[in-house]
Amino acid sequence: TKNINYKNNVLHIDNCSIDYIAEQIGTPFYVYSKTRLIENIASCKTAFLSHNIHIHYAVKANSNLQILKTVAEQGLGADLVSGGELLRAKKAGITPEKMIFSGVGKNRTELIQAIKMHVGQFNVESAEELSLLSSLTMEHSSELTSPIKVALRVNPHVAVDTHKKITTGQKGNKFGIETELALLLFQKYLNHPHMKLMGLAMHIGSQIFDVSPYQEAIKKLLNLTSRVQKLGGDIQVLDLGGGFGINYGDKSPLDFTTIAQVIAEETKHFKGKVAIEPGRSLVADIGLLVSRINYVKESQPTPFLIVDAAMNDLMRPALYDALHPIKAVKEHTSSTTRLYDVVGPVCESTDIFAHKYPLDKNLKAGDLIAFFCSGAYSAVMSNSYNSRDVIPEMLVSNDKVNIIRKKISQEHLIKFEESEESFVF
Ligand code: LLP
Repeated sequence: TKNINYKNNVLHIDNCSIDYIAEQIGTPFYVYSKTRLIENIASCKTAFLSHNIHIHYAVKANSNLQILKTVAEQGLGADLVSGGELLRAKKAGITPEKMIFSGVGKNRTELIQAIKMHVGQFNVESAEELSLLSSLTMEHSSELTSPIKVALRVNPHVAVDTHKKITTGQKGNKFGIETELALLLFQKYLNHPHMKLMGLAMHIGSQIFDVSPYQEAIKKLLNLTSRVQKLGGDIQVLDLGGGFGINYGDKSPLDFTTIAQVIAEETKHFKGKVAIEPGRSLVADIGLLVSRINYVKESQPTPFLIVDAAMNDLMRPALYDALHPIKAVKEHTSSTTRLYDVVGPVCESTDIFAHKYPLDKNLKAGDLIAFFCSGAYSAVMSNSYNSRDVIPEMLVSNDKVNIIRKKISQEHLIKFEESEESFVF
């Protein structure tokens, strides 16, 4: 990977050696390359902006404030799914006009927060949510300078070839609105005073490598667009979601240029604005999870590499059978490899990062390893199970290392449990 390379047999991120960062901060930790992030954003912009396709970063992939500040500086919009993400995006300086508020279960408080922030677009996922949003715009009409803009997220029912736990656009998924219902809703709210239904949205899943499900789903959206227009409705935006597959070591990615061309081709007769919501493809390969080996536990048939990171720090293997490429931080170019089961210390059999994984045969307790592609859906999904600390995040820019999230230790967490607050029933 560019920006994450061996120099003098030691893994470096930009100009910093991983073992030096580990010495300074302790293990485990996440570390990201700011240079790489900026490069990823630049290549995304080159591919999509040339076709006038708008980019809204899916903040859920990595919502660290410093990452979001970089995203804001590079001029991207944001796709947000909670009040917390709205708050972070605002703090990072992303303009509300460029915010899309998505999510299948937005609550009243979050909807009011978004109305007050004047977010640019609400992606609504049910008739029930639309009805609540409608009444909230009535209650808060004095705070609105113009009608809020709403896109309906439809469920296009397309099959995608990815892990079943990260599909979203198939029949039976909780996400999106059925086509016929979407039509009815456009009709019902055609003349709403404070709410303008003006778009269609979709997101068909994550880790998608094939362009055909996108083509199929876009065709369905365009078909619905003309039906809405016949009713007198106005579709100004098609929001096509994210899901572009990245290389976790075993596949070639769905690169930005390819998917941008496909989207541009499919939407060439569409008059309005086209938008996408990439998450993983912008941030996954900017980061590592760095961990130290606690024990090399000899065992038959496969020895265990017991490391100090665990499933609470990187949940993807336990949740989706994901494999993050693993490398030793010190490269032993001449030595042969051995197969290990790489596991963490958590008391669960699913706390396993890799089965029969080839690594240096001379690895020993105290050595460092790195899990690649840990910039997306890693720190954001971490937790403190087994009363483990929530580990720090570091951002490297050339030779400067910033701690962008401090370690949340058990001392901090215990304080919340020593509260004297109470109330009477
Ligand atoms: N837009 C919407 C409405 C989404 O639900 C998602 C992801 C995205 C955009 C961004 O998708 P991306 O480009 O990152 O694939 N935790 C799982 C992934 C869950 C994705 C959920 N939605 C994982 O670690 O693989």
